[in-house]
Amino acid sequence: DASLAFRVIPSDHARSEAERDRILAGELGFGRYFTDHMVAIQWDAERGWHDAQVRAYGPLALDPAAAVLHYGQEIFEGIKAYRHADGSIWTFRPEANARRLQRSAARLAMPQLPEALFLESLRQLIAIDHGWVPSAPESSLYLRPFMIATEAFLGVRPARAAGYYVIASPAGAYFAKGLAPVSIWLSREYARAAKGGTGAAKCGGNYAASLLPQQEAYANGCSQVLFLDPVEGRYLEELGGMNVFLVYRDGRLVTPALSGSILEGVTRDSILQLARERGMPVEERRVAIDEWIEGVSSGAISEVFACGTAAVVTPIGQLKGKDLAVGDPDAPIGPVTLAIRQALTDIQYGRVADTHGWMVRL
Ligand code: COI
Repeated sequence: DASLAFRVIPSDHARSEAERDRILAGELGFGRYFTDHMVAIQWDAERGWHDAQVRAYGPLALDPAAAVLHYGQEIFEGIKAYRHADGSIWTFRPEANARRLQRSAARLAMPQLPEALFLESLRQLIAIDHGWVPSAPESSLYLRPFMIATEAFLGVRPARAAGYYVIASPAGAYFAKGLAPVSIWLSREYARAAKGGTGAAKCGGNYAASLLPQQEAYANGCSQVLFLDPVEGRYLEELGGMNVFLVYRDGRLVTPALSGSILEGVTRDSILQLARERGMPVEERRVAIDEWIEGVSSGAISEVFACGTAAVVTPIGQLKGKDLAVGDPDAPIGPVTLAIRQALTDIQYGRVADTHGWMVRL
């Protein structure tokens, strides 16, 4: 539970303030730099959650027989800490991430981390590494909670020991070009998830399965891959690491319904809420890939964007595939994409009142 006492062991090789500020003032990119500390909490079937620590960021000692290394029992989350103008540090809908981590854990037969302990783990890390939350516009401290099966046993069954960790990475834009349209590669050969599989869980295996098609995307000048449903290969699911929205010229906002194999994005859900409040007609339903291709070609679809904690809201300029290229890779960023991005980030960075109760102070 949240009352688990954290043992705080400050790093004796933490970087100086000057070194930290030099890193924060440079090009941060995504996932390249890590703060001085991390959280570690252990679990086993006998004791439950125990041994909560905040300690120096550094390598984990794992038994070579640890289940995660063989059968891939691993889940993770992505959530950001934002610095507001008054210097305070906030996060966005952490209970949604805590609950998703629990759902992922259930699917991967891993232990449930209590919601309060999830939040406390973020607070503990921020308490010691708050200086790493950048203040440059549109930057944040990306928090990466994750859980791995640590039991040393090669039988194929749910591990009886696990570790939960939180690391943190000061982040700018996910894509190298910043807030600019990205091109997307349509994968028809590979699926990301199967019916009844782990697609809705945030587990490393889903991302491992996306890497070969992702490589194909890079080779074709695209920065993300688009996956279709694994049954008929006709309907949009999601990109390698983000959800997708189509904007119709008539004002409708369309996104694939949660199919059981799509990741339930917190950003996706927040955008749906914000759009509905603004009176935009919103459709969560099956979306055929032909609808995208024909809609963009005819002009009925005026904008397409990707969203996620890491990606925030990123315009999609072009969809490419074998014998396929629709959209304009250099199209200006659409007004709806920009407005949605603005509405979301205004809340996250405290530029407008948080009328939803989404922001939680860390
Ligand atoms: C996120 O948006 O937080 C993600 O986890 C997506 C990706 C970076 C894996």
